[in-house]
Amino acid sequence: MSSKRMIKVWDPFIRLFHWSLVAAFAICWVTEDELIDLHVFAGYLVAALLMARAVWGVIGTPYARFSDFVSTPRKVLSYLKDLLKFKAKRFIGHNPAGGAMIVSLMICLMLAVISGLLLYGAEGFGPLVDLSLLELTRSSELFEEIHESFANLTLLLVLLHLAGVLFGSVIHRENLLMAMITGKKRR
Ligand code: HEM
Repeated sequence: MSSKRMIKVWDPFIRLFHWSLVAAFAICWVTEDELIDLHVFAGYLVAALLMARAVWGVIGTPYARFSDFVSTPRKVLSYLKDLLKFKAKRFIGHNPAGGAMIVSLMICLMLAVISGLLLYGAEGFGPLVDLSLLELTRSSELFEEIHESFANLTLLLVLLHLAGVLFGSVIHRENLLMAMITGKKRR
């Protein structure tokens, strides 16, 4: 397609953020039982990426801003209804359902990081090791359950995210995966 018909949507920061997050999340999954140092490092990377993305959501390029893609639940529902009827409007940035998914993913990932830090602290390591909450519970099992639940919930959201990307690509006949690599979409 000629470059005149293409528009820059995802800036380099968004693309670096996205693919680094995919890598960090994958490392967290494969290292959960052994390689705990690498698991913790990848968890810190997830936290740093999320914090940087939160700042970029306020000061970043137009399509990266939360104000561009965070919609009311009513708009998300109405978009989903249109989607089921194959009548959904095309968005250059994230569509309302995609926006809701991104916020859910970011919150769930952050809760997985926080519960991971609490678990690590209960086991006698990390920055939260002296937290009085850990003294009170004296058990790492509770934090293990919570951490695993958030990790599993994140995986479920990722699967829904991938289904959404595939569905959006099919109904609008555009390669959204490629757009997250090149940063460009058709006008
Ligand atoms: C190989 C697997 C993946 C593919 C192909 C993929 C693809 C995409 C695409 C195409 C978008 C843009 C959606 C749109 O056009 O509105 C996107 C956004 C996003 N994806 Fe993924 N994704 C993958 C895995 C993941 C994983 C594992 C996570 C989190 C753990 C994730 C989190 C996000 C987030 C947070 C955004 C929003 C980007 C931003 O605005 O900063 N993705 N993804």
